[in-house]
Amino acid sequence: MKKIVSFLASGRGSNFTAVAKNIAKDKINAHLGILLTDNLNAGAVDHAKKFGMKSYFMDPKGYPDRESLEKDMIKQLESAGTDLVVAAGYMRMLGKKFVSHYKNRIINIHPALLPSFPGIHSQKQAFDYGVKITGCTTHFIDEGMDSGPIIMQAVVEINSDDSIQSISDKILMEEHRILPESVRLFCEERILIEGRKVIILSR
Ligand code: GRF
Repeated sequence: MKKIVSFLASGRGSNFTAVAKNIAKDKINAHLGILLTDNLNAGAVDHAKKFGMKSYFMDPKGYPDRESLEKDMIKQLESAGTDLVVAAGYMRMLGKKFVSHYKNRIINIHPALLPSFPGIHSQKQAFDYGVKITGCTTHFIDEGMDSGPIIMQAVVEINSDDSIQSISDKILMEEHRILPESVRLFCEERILIEGRKVIILSR
């Protein structure tokens, strides 16, 4: 049966679009679910309209705490029949209850080679540190900060003529490749998780 994929996004939504496009074109065997955002002005909301998707603004200021916000997020996701949640540039940590409700069913995209440079501004962190390679990582979200089991990684070289912007651009291109690919593998039930390790099953 086709899985239903829903999204969390806070920003411009290029990763959201990369995945949604593949689902809309049947390159990923799934149905589009809903988009939840914590930012009324997120570009992702406009993109969602193009795919005929419903999006919901879940205003963190309208809730006394993260737990009650996430309780409502779960309600929305469940009423859309969500099987997989894709955090496509969602800039908030997810709480214990949300993570355990969707255990091993939330995929995040991170713009660095984890476990290096977790948290925010990872491209800048890598540039400032002087590493010669960086990249991006897809992983399942657990209770820690960018610490869950790794699904895929892609490497990007940092050359002496690179800037934070050029590195970010190169990383973003790879994000748009490995995030849809990771979602596709999940939807084809080709992902097995053993402890920290993700095993990709061949067909
Ligand atoms: C991406 O760099 C992603 O890795 C990070 O947030 C950014 C979101 O970009 N988690 P976009 O909204 O998908 O364009």
